[in-house]
Amino acid sequence: MNQNKRIIIVSNRLPVKLTWKDGAITYQTSEGGLATGLSTIYKQNQNLWIGWPGSAVAEEDQSKVKTDLALQNLSPIFLTQQEINDFYEGFSNETLWPLFHYFPTYASYHPEQWEVYQSVNKKFAEAVLKIATKDDIIWVHDYQLMLVPQMVRHELPEVNIGFFNHIPFPSYEIFRLLPWRKELLCGVLGADVIGFQTYDDVRHFISAANRLAGINGSVNELNVKDRVVSVDAFPISIDYKKYRQLAEQSMTRRNEKKLHKLTNNNKLIISIDRLDYSKGIIHRLEAFSLMLERYPELRGKIVYIQLVVPSRDNVPKYKEIKEEMNRMVSEINGRFGMLGWQPIQHFYRSFSPTLLSALYRAADVALVTPMRDGMNLVSKEYVASKTDQKGVLVLSEMAGASRELSEAVMVNPNDIWNFCETIYQALNMPEDEQKRRMTAMQQTVSRFDINNWVTNFIDKLAEVKLRQMSLATR
Ligand code: G6P
Repeated sequence: MNQNKRIIIVSNRLPVKLTWKDGAITYQTSEGGLATGLSTIYKQNQNLWIGWPGSAVAEEDQSKVKTDLALQNLSPIFLTQQEINDFYEGFSNETLWPLFHYFPTYASYHPEQWEVYQSVNKKFAEAVLKIATKDDIIWVHDYQLMLVPQMVRHELPEVNIGFFNHIPFPSYEIFRLLPWRKELLCGVLGADVIGFQTYDDVRHFISAANRLAGINGSVNELNVKDRVVSVDAFPISIDYKKYRQLAEQSMTRRNEKKLHKLTNNNKLIISIDRLDYSKGIIHRLEAFSLMLERYPELRGKIVYIQLVVPSRDNVPKYKEIKEEMNRMVSEINGRFGMLGWQPIQHFYRSFSPTLLSALYRAADVALVTPMRDGMNLVSKEYVASKTDQKGVLVLSEMAGASRELSEAVMVNPNDIWNFCETIYQALNMPEDEQKRRMTAMQQTVSRFDINNWVTNFIDKLAEVKLRQMSLATR
């Protein structure tokens, strides 16, 4: 990546979250993959990251927040409580999120929320336009901001715009259910490069463009009026070296030992997810429960550590899944537990990267079994942390990561009998097979890491611009 242009990143969330501590504003830095991957970019030169700081900020505090964040090349977009309700919780997470994750019956369609989605996207676009020139690169992220590329294109026709969708893009038959499908599609088509996690997402998007807007093109290119638009797969990844180094630290090893001791040297199964119905938490509990029923010899010998990170807790479906999860965990523990042994250790909070690393190291089996997921970086973090190559990744076919991590043990989380047997086999997999599979996956993740992802995307933007220019001079 030989980049002299200024890059403006635009995403719903900034890589910091604003919180209040003892009446004072504090900023919590995100440890997420995107924040790490893009940190090398937005902190440089005149580059900038535009986004929401994660909470409503009173008007009188806004200028202080702006000044604080400007020091880190961050530019906040302030959302009112009404906008948080209708744009973030409403249209983004009660319409687009369930639909794009193939939960159409969970999706609601409220015209008044659609109005707010449009006006908030306009707010983001205006913030971009306030500072951008035609020579900048604008990189817009995810389903919350699908209208921004076209809004920016309208005012700055020559600017180089990228859009990356972190979540799945559904098949046309699902996408067409949206009353505002064409507006959303055309919003995204304002970009020069449209990136998805997998080729299936690419196919679905191209099919939607053909059928909704009559736009044609070749496998990875669309002709949008007089502009060539590239549509391609860029599977996101992690900072492999960072996870590896963390796993090698003596502190992590000590924590790993402690973990083994605290769990009586039982075999360990782990899962780590944001609380979300798309993550397959309930199906996984069912499969685990079935395994304890079918294989009574496992009782007292294994422990399942389930970490669930709170998320979107004002959205009703998330409240429902939390209740269901709590009910099942206590049912399983009550049914199979014995004095001195509890099958599930359940935690509902965030964890530090150091503790997560120790957990990854300690786990004999990691269950990454979403019903649908754009990529799923937990699977890659687990692989990167296994410095001794021992451990088994059980991965859902419905996660984008399954396209790359083909040496994982695959499951369809709906196939509950097979799921149960797969966990059992994973617990009993011979060590040489574990190592063979893990080594192959480590090669993949180390080769295609987050830096690679960023470089590929930015390079593609430059390439498409050149191609557009050469077509224009023909
Ligand atoms: C997914 C989405 C992101 C989102 C994240 C956390 O990974 O692709 O856009 O930021 O979930 O969700 P939240 O609603 O807390 O931003």
